[in-house]
Amino acid sequence: MYQHVEAYAGDPILSLVETFKQDPRPNKINLSIGIYFDNEGKMPLPESVRVASERLGIKTQAYLPMEGHAGFREQLGQLMLGADNPALQAKRVAVVQTLGGSGALRLGADFIHRWFPNAKLHVSDPTWDNHRGIFMGAGFTVQTYPYYDAATIGVKFDEMCAYGVKFDEMCAYLQGLPENDVVLLHPCCHNPTGVDLSVEQWDTVLKIVAERKLIPFMDIAYMGFGDTFDSDAYAIRRAVDLNLPVFASCSFSKNMSLYGQRTGGLLVLAPTADEAELILGQMKLTVRRMYSSPPAQGGLTAYNVLSDADLSAQWQNEVYEMRDRIRAMRQKLYDVLSARQPEKDYSYFIRQRGMFSYTGLSVAQVHRLRDEFAIYVLDTGRLCIAGLNDSNIDTVANALATVFAE
Ligand code: LMR
Repeated sequence: MYQHVEAYAGDPILSLVETFKQDPRPNKINLSIGIYFDNEGKMPLPESVRVASERLGIKTQAYLPMEGHAGFREQLGQLMLGADNPALQAKRVAVVQTLGGSGALRLGADFIHRWFPNAKLHVSDPTWDNHRGIFMGAGFTVQTYPYYDAATIGVKFDEMCAYGVKFDEMCAYLQGLPENDVVLLHPCCHNPTGVDLSVEQWDTVLKIVAERKLIPFMDIAYMGFGDTFDSDAYAIRRAVDLNLPVFASCSFSKNMSLYGQRTGGLLVLAPTADEAELILGQMKLTVRRMYSSPPAQGGLTAYNVLSDADLSAQWQNEVYEMRDRIRAMRQKLYDVLSARQPEKDYSYFIRQRGMFSYTGLSVAQVHRLRDEFAIYVLDTGRLCIAGLNDSNIDTVANALATVFAE
């Protein structure tokens, strides 16, 4: 699939630094890269910067390589695909540390558009608004596939999660796509609706993706918020098992609270280790030309969490606490709304997963919430459940009940 991707010869400056590092001669002198060293050959830390950094609790860092911190990339691959994944062991996965999940989306989009210029992108209706913008910025034509079924709001369903999706229409749409078109999928905690596919539905979708030879681009920004880390990654791991040309963009903004540190990654599964190397080379080139290398602090922090067994276990439990708090807020919303309006079915609040709920609020109701109750929800009706807490939940639930009663 990637035999036509050109080999990247390396950046003239950064490659030289790598060569310098490998030079065993003790008297070597590096006059290549533009870094200021002091009279002792050290990167100095100005006292003013030290004081300011200490105040903020951060340290200055050297440049990372274009593709990011090696340890972070290794840990990321294992977190996403599972530690013993054969594709990782066979070095068939190109992994790049990126500027958050958005950076991963853009990097992947640039690569696909460069090497598969006729490929179009298909996003769910609706999707995170910026998906469209990022891919259009990379030159893509963007279309939508049927996904959210608004008619299912307020209707009772037997199966948790297997509701709220126009599944047959979605499958029919995907079956009509040409080879190498890209389908953007949300492995868990669909943004904005909170409506996810069931395992059986994922299996069907991935079968169609395989048959039609589509490129699945899986954007996972909420790993651990849906169910477990492993089950939230089900769709990605299954697609890798099926040897599909998976692109997976991920973010540590939410589950590590590393928002401003812009910490994310992109994984691409290639048919062979050689092709993974070609992909990585082109991605390094793109990174070099866009922003040179990713920021160090977030990647180092994430690496230190993921590579330490105790911290990693602690982190996963902390994310599960966040998940459970979100679930408790959903339940509370459901309880208050159901008590105020027993004739209506609000169970969708507890069936949806992750940070967001598509509430079914109309634009007029959203504006009323804002104007009368000072409660801010997106015009689409998307409400961030993670913004609820014990102090504001009653106010919000009662305000919702009032506007829903219109
Ligand atoms: C959101 O959907 O609100 C978040 O992913 C934040 C963002 O950048 O839009």
